[in-house]
Parts: sequence; structure tokens; C-alpha cells
Amino acid sequence: MFQYCLKLRELVIMAFKYAIGKRGNNMSTLIVLGAQWGDEGKGKMTDYLAEDAEVVVRFQGGNNAGHTVVVGENEYKLHLIPSGILYSDKLNVLGNGVVIDPAALFTEIEYLKTVGIDVTPERLAISDRAQVILPYHKVLDALKEKARGKNDIGTTKKGIGPAYTDKVERCGIRICDLLHKEVLREKLQINIEDKNKVITSIYGEEPLDFEAIFNEYVEFGERIRPFVQETSVKVYDSIKADKKVLFEGAQGMLLDIDYGTYPYVTSSNTIAGGVCTGVGIGPTMITNAIGIAKAYTTRVGKGPFPTELHDEMGEHIRQVGHEYGVTTGRARRCGWLDLVIVKTTTRVCGLTSLAITKMDTLAGIEKIKVCVGYELDGRVIDYFPASLEDLARCTPVYEEFDGWDESIADARSYDAIPENAKKYLKRIEEITGARIAIVSVGPKRDQTMKIAEL
Ligand code: GDP
Ligand code: IMO
Ligand code: MG
Repeated sequence: MFQYCLKLRELVIMAFKYAIGKRGNNMSTLIVLGAQWGDEGKGKMTDYLAEDAEVVVRFQGGNNAGHTVVVGENEYKLHLIPSGILYSDKLNVLGNGVVIDPAALFTEIEYLKTVGIDVTPERLAISDRAQVILPYHKVLDALKEKARGKNDIGTTKKGIGPAYTDKVERCGIRICDLLHKEVLREKLQINIEDKNKVITSIYGEEPLDFEAIFNEYVEFGERIRPFVQETSVKVYDSIKADKKVLFEGAQGMLLDIDYGTYPYVTSSNTIAGGVCTGVGIGPTMITNAIGIAKAYTTRVGKGPFPTELHDEMGEHIRQVGHEYGVTTGRARRCGWLDLVIVKTTTRVCGLTSLAITKMDTLAGIEKIKVCVGYELDGRVIDYFPASLEDLARCTPVYEEFDGWDESIADARSYDAIPENAKKYLKRIEEITGARIAIVSVGPKRDQTMKIAEL
């Protein structure tokens, strides 16, 4: 009887383990999202998490992104191709929500070749529904920025906004159009005629040459053809086959076209909801979402930033954290951690966990401040207001923390983190209501601690 009970117990444990295994460590589908204004370390985290994944998918944005991954002594900078490309056995996908500049795509493929990474159609699949960035998008991006004068957005000038504008305007050229010469000719002709009117009569600049662009893009079409797949089916089938799929976000929650600091935003949905429209899968297929947040806040480009530091502390963080843009080289604006932002991201994106990066940058700061709310017209709010006029009247409510002197770059377990750093992390969890699953203490793959389930 006793032996029978033992056998039964074993069977129950086995069934339990099988059930957990089926749920795939809680990450059969996991979205990696920027929880602030971009550059939070999404590339590093995607690379770290991709070890367990089979498919890595970009769902929005374009080569305005700059994702850095450091493996061993090598640093890789990716703009368009998902960070999973650094592994030889992952499928990387550019979903329909991405805007693709073919020139930038092939420059990146060439760059990867020089560092020993061969981008083949087995490793990269491109949606035929993705919109194409054309030369006039880049020209218009720069001209519109110039015309905005002091109200410029500070875009990356990669043509992102004008390409998404054409998508919504329903005159955009898609990857599938590049594969049909005559379709491309017709659509390009209409577009160039239209854009040239704007470029010459509104901005007084030289018109673009149809023939040159047409020939260039016909050639791009032929080079892209082998990579083109029905990516929605590919991703759906992968999830159905219990393969682990990662969705690599670009930019961050506050650059979202709907929920960001509009109009100082990018032109896509960077929030979790963007995955469904940008890949062509349903919300019920997504199980987890991890928000990547720096231990402080940065922003490139213009727009409001309530906890920005204009003093030596801001400069200190910029220098120690090497806060310079990957895509444009611009100095990033730096400030204290703003938990109103991270809390808002937790809600809007339904985050199941957080990864806190760059904890090492804060070492040596005597007193560290964290914004836990905004005072607006005599009351404290804990959400991000839509109106920039309201936001301008918000004063951050700070809590102050004792810092830590010890470098934590070598910490590899939660126990090895200084007590004051633990208090800091705990408070982030309390305020945001999100569990911290990962702590990052340096740019390298191994400078990463998983401290809880995703
Ligand atoms: P992304 O756009 O979100 O992928 O982030 P970026 O690559 O633009 O910027 C993040 C920068 O921080 C890169 O240079 C990373 O190598 C670096 N980084 C990521 N995590 C850490 C960390 O925990 N500590 C330090 N010191 N650097 C980090
Ligand atoms: P990753 O993926 C930080 C910012 C630009 C500008 C605004 C609009 O590396 O985090 P756009 O060219 O998209 O029309 O510019 O958005 N921006 C980013 N800031 N990280 C990014 O990407 C960004 N991509 C765009 O600086 O303020
Ligand atoms: Mg970046």
C-alpha cells in the first residue's frame, strides 16, 4: 500500500512537471517592451532571453531603432534585424507592422557578414505586407523637421513618420509590390509625382528622379524576394507547435503614437497591443510581456521629461552610463527613475514582469531619487496625463534612497547585490505592482541575473 502511494505521488509530480513544461517556463510567447523612452536595453534583453526561444520577431518601427548586444568581447549594433540573428539556430521575423528601408536592410546584412553572421532566408523571414521606406520618405522627414523649426520632434530622419503616414493614407508601397515590377512602376509613379509636388512647391527643393528610384527598388525587390514569407502563418504555426516566440519591441511606451508624449513620439504602436496588429496574431496567443526599464530615465529627441536632470548629476549619469544614441549618436537626456512612467507601462502593456537594467550605473551616487507620483494642481496623480500642458504643470514627487558604493557589475545573484540596491528594487516592485524578474548590471550577456519567473 505504502509503495502504491509512493508510485501515485510520483505520477502526480510527473503530471505537474509536464503541465509546467507545457507552459514553457511561462514564456511560450514573450513580448520584450521598452518601458520608458527607448534605449532601455531591449537588444541586450532580447539576446539574453532568445537563448530559450526559437523565433524572434520585430513587430513595429524600423531602422530608427538601435539595439546593442554585447557577446564576449564583441559589440553588435542592430537597427532593423531582430537581435536573435546573433544565434545561428533562430528564425528572425520582420512582421507586417515594421517599415523597411531596403537600403538599410542590405547595409545591415553586409555589416553582419563582416562580423561572421550570414543572414540567409532560413534565418530571416520578411512579411510581404510590411511597408517600404522610399527615398522621398527620408527627404520629407528631414524637410518637415526643418520646417517645424523650434517645434521639431527630433526624429531620427530615417523616413519613419512619412512611411507610416503613407500606410494610413493608403498610398504606401509594400514589400509585395517590390516583387511585381509593373505594380511597382504604377504605384511609384503616382507617389513620386505627388511627393515631388510637395518637395518642389512647398519646400522649394529639387524633385526626385523616378527612373533612378524605380531601377534601384526593382533590384532591391529581387534581393528581398528569397526572404519573403507569409510571416503571420509562420509565427502562428510556431506558437501552435509549442515553439517559444519572442517579440522584440523597438522604442518605448512613451514613444507610442497613442500613449506616448504626443506629438513627441514615433509613428507606431510600441505598446504590447502592437504585436497583434504588427504580426497578425490574436491576443489570446500571447502569454507574457516583460517591460525593460533602466534604473534611471533617458530620452533622445525633444519632448517633455519631468524628472530630467540639467545639473552635474545628469552629466554624471550620461558619462557613467555612456548615454549616447546608437542610431544618431546624439547625447541622451538623463534623469531620475520615474515610476509613474513604469507603472503606466505596466498597466497599458499588461506586463507580467520587469527587467531593470543599468543598475551598475547608479553605484557611487550618495542619494538616489525616484519619482513616485506627480503633483498636479494640488493633488498627487500616479498616471501619465495626455495633455502636455497638464504634464508641464506636474511636479515630480520624489522618494530619496541611500545609494551604494560597491560596484555591482560582478554580481551574479540577488544575494550579491548590496542591501541598498535591494531596497531600491523592492520599492520599484511596490510602486509599479510588477515583479522584477531580471536585473542587469552591465552590457554583457552574462552580466544578467534572473531573480524571478518571467
Ligand atoms: P535598446 O535600444 O533598448 O536595445 O538599448 P540601446 O542598445 O540603444 O542602449 C542600451 C545601452 O546600454 C547599450 O549600449 C547596452 O550595451 C547598454 N546596456 C544594457 N544593459 C546594461 C546594463 O545593465 N549596464 C550597462 N552599464 N550597460 C547596459
Ligand atoms: P530603440 O529601439 C530612443 C525617438 C527619436 C524622436 C522620436 C521620433 O533603440 O529604443 P522617429 O525617427 O521614430 O520618427 O523619431 O522617437 N526614437 C527613439 N528614441 N530609442 C529609439 O529606438 C528610438 N526610435 C525613435 O529620437 O524623439
Ligand atoms: Mg536603442
